[in-house]
Amino acid sequence: MYRLPLRVLAAGILSTPLLSLAAELPYRDPALPVEQRVSDLLSRMTLDEKLGQMLMGARDWVGPEQMKKLNMGTLLSGGGSVPRPNTVNGWVAMMKGYQDAARSTRLGIPVLYGIDSTHGFAHLPGATVFPQLVGMAATRDEALVRRAGEITAREMSAAALYWTFGPMVSVVDDIRWGRSYEAFGENTELVSRLGAAFTEGFQGGLKVYGPKAVRPIATAKHFIGDGGVAFGSSDFAMAGGRSKLDRGDTRGDNAALLARHLPPYKAQVDAGVRSVMASFSSWNGTPMHANPHLLNDVLRKQLGFTGLIVSDWEAVQLLPGSFDTQVATATNAGIDVLMEPQKTAEVLAALRKGVTDKLIPQQRIDQAVSNILRVKFEMGLFEHAGPVEAAQAGVGSAEHRQVARELVRKSLVLLKNDAALPLKRKQHILVAGEHADDLGLQSGGWTLEWQGFFDNNTRLPGATTIIDGLSNVGGASTKIDFDPNGQFAKKVASAASPADVAIVAVGERPYSEWLGDRSAAELSLSADDLALIARMRPLARKLVLVLVSGRPLILGDALKKSDAVVAAWLPGSEGAGVADVLFGDAPFTGKLPYAWPKDAASFKAASAPADERRASLLFEVGYGLAK
Ligand code: BGC
Ligand code: BGC
Repeated sequence: MYRLPLRVLAAGILSTPLLSLAAELPYRDPALPVEQRVSDLLSRMTLDEKLGQMLMGARDWVGPEQMKKLNMGTLLSGGGSVPRPNTVNGWVAMMKGYQDAARSTRLGIPVLYGIDSTHGFAHLPGATVFPQLVGMAATRDEALVRRAGEITAREMSAAALYWTFGPMVSVVDDIRWGRSYEAFGENTELVSRLGAAFTEGFQGGLKVYGPKAVRPIATAKHFIGDGGVAFGSSDFAMAGGRSKLDRGDTRGDNAALLARHLPPYKAQVDAGVRSVMASFSSWNGTPMHANPHLLNDVLRKQLGFTGLIVSDWEAVQLLPGSFDTQVATATNAGIDVLMEPQKTAEVLAALRKGVTDKLIPQQRIDQAVSNILRVKFEMGLFEHAGPVEAAQAGVGSAEHRQVARELVRKSLVLLKNDAALPLKRKQHILVAGEHADDLGLQSGGWTLEWQGFFDNNTRLPGATTIIDGLSNVGGASTKIDFDPNGQFAKKVASAASPADVAIVAVGERPYSEWLGDRSAAELSLSADDLALIARMRPLARKLVLVLVSGRPLILGDALKKSDAVVAAWLPGSEGAGVADVLFGDAPFTGKLPYAWPKDAASFKAASAPADERRASLLFEVGYGLAK
């Protein structure tokens, strides 16, 4: 851990005015041990100041004045919630407004602002968008995942943001779950290893800027068992969709469930993660937001977690009882920060009532506030909450995009190849499929919007689509014709005069959370996709199917009809990485983080009996051809 040495270092460099002020108020003295600063500050706080720290507002409903009025300790941007203009300067100005207001409160406690930078700072047009975690998992490359964490922290720091709600360290049992692409796969060991690498990278990512830079914090989520939910155990409707798995119940033998879902959290705590988000899901019937055993006995006592625990978005309101009861239950279970962004004043009132009525022990409040303050002190937020100006030139820089492109290259999994790949320069190549030319489709959910976007390539400046990449990497000697619908004039290609290769890029449209829950049948390539493959088949000697999706899709006939099949996952802003590998400039090294189902009828989740599962698969976890 780097925290102690840095603090000692910082004390030596700080300017005199700050030190003299520090002498007046111990909690302001960065030379004192964090625990001493925490207890000093806590001893000066009124009950309302303490309760304010536990609130989490969102920019949509809470401006600097309201934040100040409630002494609010934390804020967030939900998916797609961005300042106008959505530029680095726009973020810096917004954060300055909040931090100035926080500094002007009686005790001047800085506000902690969280955001889902799950695959890069993908809220900002022009930032580097990394492959979604499913693609990172296919690389199995800890060093690269660590780099992605570092770069994400650096690009966020340019905007004065230091808290990401990631990595998601779910061990996913069932790819019908709409969050499968946000995870590192179905293998506990891989999830643990890569999750820890991301957290180390993110939390250590600003060390390059010297001791005055904030130490940013990652969030391991969603504790615990979010990826283990049973199909059909969830059934609620919101935002135009009905869940099948998301927010459901994780069921089974307790010891077996822990063996499968706890190691990633052990790895996170060992890596020094400073925040954990509780899961919407329940564990053998007990909602995780009302589960003191797992939150306290297991996460805090057994694993030794000393950071803060945040609830998930309005999850408290899904607990039984009145709102007051829900708030008391979650707080008593161990939630420190309540992400109830539309009800901050109500949460404050409920907490106050809970303490007055002795439903919430004062000591639990002190503990929660200590956890929050500890993290803020460790981060160095009291000393420097502003942006890292030196990081601003790096946002979406060529150097950062190069790392993303490398991740894309290593993420591609070759599932089949009958002498169709690599592509050769001088070939005549037809490209079809909307996924070949759409930055939103290739980036997936949590990109600019909660549900992602598509059909507007201007929204990610500096990014490269797959077709851009093929043209650039193929160069002038390669003849490429593209039509999203595969409508090519006879003189371009025909059955009588076929092109050398047809690339057909198909897959999923972006989604997030329960809006991505599917039945097994719905994981099949669509009728349109199959028709496109059929249309392209006679137009080229070889057909290469490129799948742009957040999870394995059921291929049906498409497997036979294709000479090569490549899983490209959701590569993000650097589509050229796909082209690098298709042209053989980089080798295929990616391996499946999820097993690949054969068909809908025999579909089995990972936890099914081993022989049944095996019989249901086309490819096992870890599969991936080299050429
Ligand atoms: C998601 C979390 C996310 C939070 C804040 C929730 O709906 O489940 O993963 O961090 O929203 O956007
Ligand atoms: C927010 C997301 C959140 C979701 C959950 C959306 O409105 O933008 O961040 O995860 O609601 O319901």
